[in-house]
Amino acid sequence: MSLQEQNWWIFLNSWSLAIKNKNIDQLNISNLIEELDLDTNLVHEFVNFFQDDFNLSKEQVVSICMGGQCRAKGNEKIFAKLVDANLTKIPEKQLKIKPVLCLHECDKAPCSQYGAKLHLGDDLSWVERLIKE
Ligand code: FES
Repeated sequence: MSLQEQNWWIFLNSWSLAIKNKNIDQLNISNLIEELDLDTNLVHEFVNFFQDDFNLSKEQVVSICMGGQCRAKGNEKIFAKLVDANLTKIPEKQLKIKPVLCLHECDKAPCSQYGAKLHLGDDLSWVERLIKE
């Protein structure tokens, strides 16, 4: 087994443990990609597939990057929009919305994370979907 394959298995093991322990939101995907030298696109494809098909997290957490690059690309407005929409929801449906300093994907700003799924770039359709849920 190559080093790359071993690292992929380490990632999958971390992923499955996080699912089993119901703390997928705390899994730092960006750090794992960096530490294990994984293909960023492949990991995001994997995470997005499973995040879209299964609701893996009980508590819905949205992390909005407030680093310089992401603020310059409009994340302050996205944060405010989500907070406003969240306040109109019944408490059981409310999201936990938190600002974070950097999601380590600055060149793909604006960046946010919903559960384990990273949302990168200008396609903000996920924000509208989230508001309607
Ligand atoms: S500034 Fe937003 S990901 Fe780094």
